[in-house]
Amino acid sequence: MTQMNHAPIAELYVSPDSAQKLKLEAGTLPSWDLNARQVCDLELLMNGGFSPLKGFLGKNDYDSVVETMRLTDGALWPMPVTLDVSEKFAEGIEPGQDIALRDQEGVILAILSVTDKWQPNKALEAEKVYGADDLAHPAVHYLHNVAGPVYLGGPIIGIQAPVHYDFKARRDTPNELRARFRKLGWSKVVAFQTRNPLHRAHQELTFRAAREVQANLLIHPVVGMTKPGDVDHFTRVRCYEAVLDKYPAATTTMSLLNLAMRMGGPREAVWHGIIRRNHGCTHMIVGRDHAGPGKNSQGKDFYDPYAAQELFKQYEADIGVTMVDFKHMVYVQEKAQYYPANEVPEGSTVLDISGTELRRRLREGLEIPEWFSFPEVVTELRRTSPPRSKQGFTVFFTGLSGSGKSTIANALMVKLMEMGGRPVTLLDGDVVRKHLSSELGFSKEHRDLNIKRIGYVASEITKNGGIAICAPIAPYSATRRIVREMIEQYGAIIEVHVATSVEECERRDRKGLYKLAREGKIKEFTGISDPYEAPESPELRLDTEGLDVDHCAHQVLLQLESMGLITGR
Ligand code: PPS
Repeated sequence: MTQMNHAPIAELYVSPDSAQKLKLEAGTLPSWDLNARQVCDLELLMNGGFSPLKGFLGKNDYDSVVETMRLTDGALWPMPVTLDVSEKFAEGIEPGQDIALRDQEGVILAILSVTDKWQPNKALEAEKVYGADDLAHPAVHYLHNVAGPVYLGGPIIGIQAPVHYDFKARRDTPNELRARFRKLGWSKVVAFQTRNPLHRAHQELTFRAAREVQANLLIHPVVGMTKPGDVDHFTRVRCYEAVLDKYPAATTTMSLLNLAMRMGGPREAVWHGIIRRNHGCTHMIVGRDHAGPGKNSQGKDFYDPYAAQELFKQYEADIGVTMVDFKHMVYVQEKAQYYPANEVPEGSTVLDISGTELRRRLREGLEIPEWFSFPEVVTELRRTSPPRSKQGFTVFFTGLSGSGKSTIANALMVKLMEMGGRPVTLLDGDVVRKHLSSELGFSKEHRDLNIKRIGYVASEITKNGGIAICAPIAPYSATRRIVREMIEQYGAIIEVHVATSVEECERRDRKGLYKLAREGKIKEFTGISDPYEAPESPELRLDTEGLDVDHCAHQVLLQLESMGLITGR
């Protein structure tokens, strides 16, 4: 049985006086602006959440973690915690140098003494760590399409913790939690890791877990980064606060964890265990499909639903936290009670609402029964997720130059404005290049920047309840996917492939550009001398040949209606 260790854990921060001094000195160092995921990683490195790591992994430790789930000194560590940077930045950095790590506002949080610089084999990392080099896995997508190509490793000197303005009182460092447990005299604590709002099944599961191992309960939700498309953490924390009253205060506490999850299933479960040990817990609940990323590109689950439990069990002694494993909890109607799926009395009626079904009911404004969740939680969820017909969304046209994107987009805009109810903005390729991206050309780098800018503006419009219609060429799948993720945080995106063939576009040649491209007078022209990666599964594909504009725009309207985004009359 795991013993509670109340002693403080080592942090990587220097004293406030030294921090003050170092901060001034670090002002002249080369500096790297951390992205949101890197800030999360750094916070847990500095506060001891990632103990025994002393910084971002160096090359040897990285190789060893990827291959064996252990650091070179033999300590168990399943997840590569690495600092990825751009090629351009890496060019100017050599091992032996110090660099300042800044947050997104430019505040210096830490100094990294670079010991290693290398180009990782990302395909191998994906295979070994996540089990497949498949871009449908959010962390694999991140690895290939968001993370920089070069890793820097080395020890960290912590100057200050990232600043949080939200739910300050609910956030605790490992040492703050250890101190709380010590003060309360809690010798056994079972942690519940979650990235979802708590419904009745979760409450039942946590009650049972605490009872089973005679421990106090720590509800330990992740508020750093979770799976794209999850309920945002602001809403979730308000939901947790509403549910907390339903737990006896003397036995249960809650704390927010600023972890950036990778959705790495089994390896991630082991990682979560180590993080909980560092936060002073003795037990952790591992349920069905822990930290599961969903389906792979073949439509199959990435991991077996109980693989995380198996791996955790195998490494339990090394992790230093005892697993409390649970099967999926379901509601048994006759008993008016929740049961683990494998203990359901024979012949009884089992009720369950999946995450997808819950999202559908919220989207469509349908009933969510009391046996499933608490009214306070449902009210909170409905506040953030009004029915789809009241949410913002983005229609993203993609296709070759001259395929008809702009014309259809214009027609769609007018039809939506005629219907009224939501403001509509058209971000047409040409218009964007005049107002947002006037300095950009047509290299891959510039096209990507252009599309990400469009994606950003569209995501803001979507967030604020408007309709964004985008009509760029957007030739690259990976960039379109990044845009999709930006938008899906706030609402739906409908990708419309205007699939006019290059032959037909060239025949029409409305702007005379194809002729110039053929003559070599325009370089890097999409479809002629530059690639176009057609979307594999857009929400809608329009074959414009033989169809008039009105009809095409109508097809989009029908698609919007079928998704509940506009309501038919
Ligand atoms: S991208 O790739 O998405 O950034 O392109 P986009 O911003 O939509 O730019 C599209 C318009 O720019 C004109 N144009 C070119 N297109 C493709 N390749 C090259 N080299 C090029 N040079 C200029 C072209 O008229 C595109 O307009 P549309 O509206 O697509 O016909």
